[in-house]
Amino acid sequence: MVSYKELGLVNTKEMFAKAVKGGYAIPAFNFNTMEQMQAIVQAAVETKSPVIMQVSKGARKYANPTILRYMAQGAVEYAKELGCANPQIVLHLDHGDSFETCKSCIDSGFSSVMIDGSHFSFEENIKLTKEVVDYAHQYDVTVEAELGVLAGVEDEVSAAESHYTKPEEVIEFATKTGCDSLAISIGTSHGAYKFTREQCTVDPETGKLVPPPLAFDILEAIEQKLPGFPIVLHGSSSVPQDEVDTINKFGGQLPDAVGIPESQLRKAAKSAVCKINIDSDSRLAMTAAIRKHFAEKPGDFDPRQYLTPARENMKKMYIHKIIEVLGSNDKL
Ligand code: G3H
Ligand code: 13P
Ligand code: ZN
Repeated sequence: MVSYKELGLVNTKEMFAKAVKGGYAIPAFNFNTMEQMQAIVQAAVETKSPVIMQVSKGARKYANPTILRYMAQGAVEYAKELGCANPQIVLHLDHGDSFETCKSCIDSGFSSVMIDGSHFSFEENIKLTKEVVDYAHQYDVTVEAELGVLAGVEDEVSAAESHYTKPEEVIEFATKTGCDSLAISIGTSHGAYKFTREQCTVDPETGKLVPPPLAFDILEAIEQKLPGFPIVLHGSSSVPQDEVDTINKFGGQLPDAVGIPESQLRKAAKSAVCKINIDSDSRLAMTAAIRKHFAEKPGDFDPRQYLTPARENMKKMYIHKIIEVLGSNDKL
């Protein structure tokens, strides 16, 4: 058993309480590679922001769970080396699918886990979430749960359609499970194709798709039921069109990729939404930089040559999100 406290990590409790009160949100960035980890830490240190580094089941499979845990430990030491005396870094399991996966993460040094029972019945979701909460809280590990279903791929669980969270269910769910935060469904979805053409309108000037607004009425109703309770938004990449254009210009094929407008996320961050999940935007930033590099320098074959601009582009994106969208800068 390794406690996250020995690794210099923190759980989400205090971080979320401050974020809800202060009207900002903590960035939750997924990572699979060393370059993503470096870019996240550099961005968090430079902006003096707390940060959640999250690991999906797919990331554990790709990179190896032990390596990812040591990378998170390395992230704390790297932040200190960059001049941040007291970094606030959470190592979080994203979309935990079973008690066993959550337990294995808690036992190996994660400071926070998500148990995603959103595809189960309400009763089964409560039962599974409570089981994880009871175990996690013994070790001061915080637990995120989910009510409502997001469209798109959630790790290996995919849903064609979203089901908005029902505000009338949240009090019973939070009380019976004892979860520390709640992911809700109000119109965000995973991946780079969040809406179909039919769901969008078209901007007459640019020809680009304009997505439908998030269901802020549902968010407000949930906030009224659970005042001050930490709310989480998944599927919150905004799919920057300049990155999509770069990818397409240099040989990629991402037609109609569309995300959540940053203005909507900014509005959500000012509410009880205190954790905003971003993964796809990092993938796009990395891919755009690599495609551009290869197009301009076809003779390069040393990964450091193309991963350096990729890392720089991700860092730029993370800093932009922290300062311009989430407002978590200068909160350490
Ligand atoms: O919610 C999904 C995250 O973007 C993780 O994606 O399962 O492909 O690593 P992944
Ligand atoms: P995006 O695909 O919008 O980046 O969402 C990531 C996410 O919710 C991770 O859990
Ligand atoms: Zn998610």
